[in-house]
Amino acid sequence: MKLDHEGRRETFPLGTPNQTAAAARARDIHPLLAFHKILAALRKATASSMRRRCRDRRRGSERRLCQTVGRTQNVRSGLQTKPGDFDGLFSEYLKAMKSFPVKFPERYWVLSQLPWQSLRGRVEVTSTSEQPPPEFDPTIADYYRRAPEEYRLEQGPFLLEELRTREVIERHARRPPATVLDVGGSAGAYALWLVDAGYTVHLVDPVPRLVAEAQRRSIARSRQLASCRVGEARALDFADQSADFVLLLGPLYHLTEASDRARALSETRRVLKPGGQVFAAAISRWASALDGLSRNLFQDPRFAAIVEQDLRDGQHRNPTERLDYFTTAYFHRPDELRAEVLGAGLILEGLYGLEGPGWLLSDVSARLADPRRRTDLLKVARMLESEPSVLGVSAHLLVVARTPA
Ligand SMILES: C[S@@+](CC[C@H](N)C(=O)[O-])C[C@H]1O[C@@H](n2cnc3c(N)ncnc32)[C@H](O)[C@@H]1O
Repeated sequence: MKLDHEGRRETFPLGTPNQTAAAARARDIHPLLAFHKILAALRKATASSMRRRCRDRRRGSERRLCQTVGRTQNVRSGLQTKPGDFDGLFSEYLKAMKSFPVKFPERYWVLSQLPWQSLRGRVEVTSTSEQPPPEFDPTIADYYRRAPEEYRLEQGPFLLEELRTREVIERHARRPPATVLDVGGSAGAYALWLVDAGYTVHLVDPVPRLVAEAQRRSIARSRQLASCRVGEARALDFADQSADFVLLLGPLYHLTEASDRARALSETRRVLKPGGQVFAAAISRWASALDGLSRNLFQDPRFAAIVEQDLRDGQHRNPTERLDYFTTAYFHRPDELRAEVLGAGLILEGLYGLEGPGWLLSDVSARLADPRRRTDLLKVARMLESEPSVLGVSAHLLVVARTPA
């Protein structure tokens, strides 16, 4: 089994999750990231055989079983996994997850993806020796080296963020053929979606590990990214007027100085064709306060102090080890985002609150999994998306703007 990680090629034995975690730590790979990669690889490798076996064994409920791949009970009844294998693995993973300084959503994701085969054999880990651009903040670089960003959008409030981001892009973006730059594109969640829709897409991100993952995902598909490179929003390696639209879904909130955000917007404007569009995301000034309430985090005085500073000046810093407290960022008020975009000489097409209040519901994952309740979540987010008095209730703001024709 091959797993990609920062270009280094390494093998280590897969035993119990704790042994795997120790082996990952010894190689300076975050154990959680190793688990995510292993589980994703296992899931892919065994999905088709599992579907076949489900079909053979339970014809009547085949569809239900296939739809719920990864859900413990169905996997167990569908596959008749040997109890020792599965239960042992399940509790080992639970124990290992509990010892990590991360909670929701990473742990939730892992629990929902538990493997249905025992982990045996050896795993190969690949990575890249490429370094982030020198300008890139080392604290942010370290966060993305450790955090499983490539799986973030698959669950809970982040899935709602993704669905709504796609909706706004579909509403405003010109139709293909068109050239797109995804700056801060991470492992390619939006870039690969746009490739599938017929666009020519270039991805840029300062984190080599994520760029390598985007490249790996791209190669595995029939249509691929036009290019995929390590780079920075403040200095784009693209010609003037070369893009029809630019996604800036990350850089604006990770650039903590207004002058750096202005540079990123000015670079965006430079590479856009006349009339070209930018979709730029920001994090709401009130996101951490609301998140703390929703996830009951205020019992931790360190979290309370982080929120105090966020509310005071928007400068989000996380001095703790907890990945779910995020990393160095700037949290915008809606008016500031509007002013920064207008200040870059761009013409505003829309400023939206993305998730609406739905991201704060503790059962947001269950609602998104249920078609009717998912429709309601999306409908309310849409109804409130432009209402100035509630824009900041969303975790993310999305501005759509264009260059003069
Ligand atoms: C939370 S992730 C979002 C990824 C993806 N665009 C999305 O919306 O899901 C933020 C991304 O912005 C990237 N990023 C941070 N600072 C950046 C900068 N100065 N220039 C370009 N990308 C940056 C990070 O490496 C990371 O991949």
